[in-house]
Amino acid sequence: MSTPPSPPTLVLGLESSCDETAAAVVEDGVRVRANVIASQHDLHAEYRGVVPEIASRAHAERLLPVVRRALAEAGVSLAEIDAVAVGCRPGLIGALLVGVAAAKALALALDKPIIGVDHVHAHLYAGLLDAPPDTSTATPLPALGLVVSGGHTSIYLVRDWRTPQRLGATIDDAVGEAYDKVGAILGLPFPGGPMVDRLAQRGSPKGRTFPVSLPGDGPDALDFSFSGLKTAVLYAAVGVPGRGQSPPPDASHLAESAKADLCASFQHAAVDAIVRRLRQAAALHPEARTLLVGGGVSANSRLRQELTRLAQAQGLALRLPAMPYCLDNAAMLAGLGHHLLAARGFASDPLTLTATPTTALA
Ligand code: KG4
Ligand code: ZN
Repeated sequence: MSTPPSPPTLVLGLESSCDETAAAVVEDGVRVRANVIASQHDLHAEYRGVVPEIASRAHAERLLPVVRRALAEAGVSLAEIDAVAVGCRPGLIGALLVGVAAAKALALALDKPIIGVDHVHAHLYAGLLDAPPDTSTATPLPALGLVVSGGHTSIYLVRDWRTPQRLGATIDDAVGEAYDKVGAILGLPFPGGPMVDRLAQRGSPKGRTFPVSLPGDGPDALDFSFSGLKTAVLYAAVGVPGRGQSPPPDASHLAESAKADLCASFQHAAVDAIVRRLRQAAALHPEARTLLVGGGVSANSRLRQELTRLAQAQGLALRLPAMPYCLDNAAMLAGLGHHLLAARGFASDPLTLTATPTTALA
């Protein structure tokens, strides 16, 4: 007699590390039943950056309505949830604590296991969500991983999901932060990344070559630096301080075509740095069979093209997230949470689980 198929496992994910309040329901670690994201961009736009106290308060107001919507979209009740996964590091501490406190309360009330998940590791998992049937069952590990977001720019070697090993990271600005600052220099709406991407598609990188900064020496130097590139864009846009009259505060006066060319040149240099480091990482780790990519900047059109080309050349299977899973979301936390829980027989973290502002480093 054949054994009946086991029912799917449903994990509720919660995300509150920065300026997105999100909840998701994910089935068996890969199939996204609901992915609800309440962005706070409008609350922070006038400050041109995330204000931690405003973010925490907005998470506290929005988290439960977002959870209710995710459950409704997934067509499940709280009682049908098998476990709760919550982003517990890294991020703004007050913001993280809202999600962690809510997740603990839910787990306690439902008597279901809870797991704290590293937000950066979860970005690496995002490309495995809703993957086509032919790829979803293939084992992606060992893999190289790239996280490119507003707070992180890092390369990983992922042999197992519990302890991804960080091979290199930015020594100053994250690439998304550089995109946002270029957007601010050019007087574009916050966050600047998507608009810089759009303008760059209309411009030419030929007019101006910006430096590609790769700090450190030797084939195993895999760190990044983007602050020099950002300053180079500033000087190109508004002039070098001390030369001539005082420069204008931003470059909103420039013609659209000049802005587009600056965006294209900046994007060319930023993407080039990432691709060169990944090529080095692939040479150092020929055992990697997959390239996992995640974080807000993985939505970038040029980066997606160049990563596709690189993966083909290196013989790596590329797992680029679908657009809704590039930016901060809770589905990636639920997906990775499922994986980590399954590996330990769905044993719960203790309810002393807390939030930590820094990432876990292997
Ligand atoms: O992963 P994410 O939502 O939040 C963090 O964990 O930081 O990433 C947000 C970042 C912002 O800096 C935003 O400008 C950038 O991702 N971003 C982009 C694009 N879409 C979002 N950067 C470049 N091109 C894009 N298309
Ligand atoms: Zn993120």
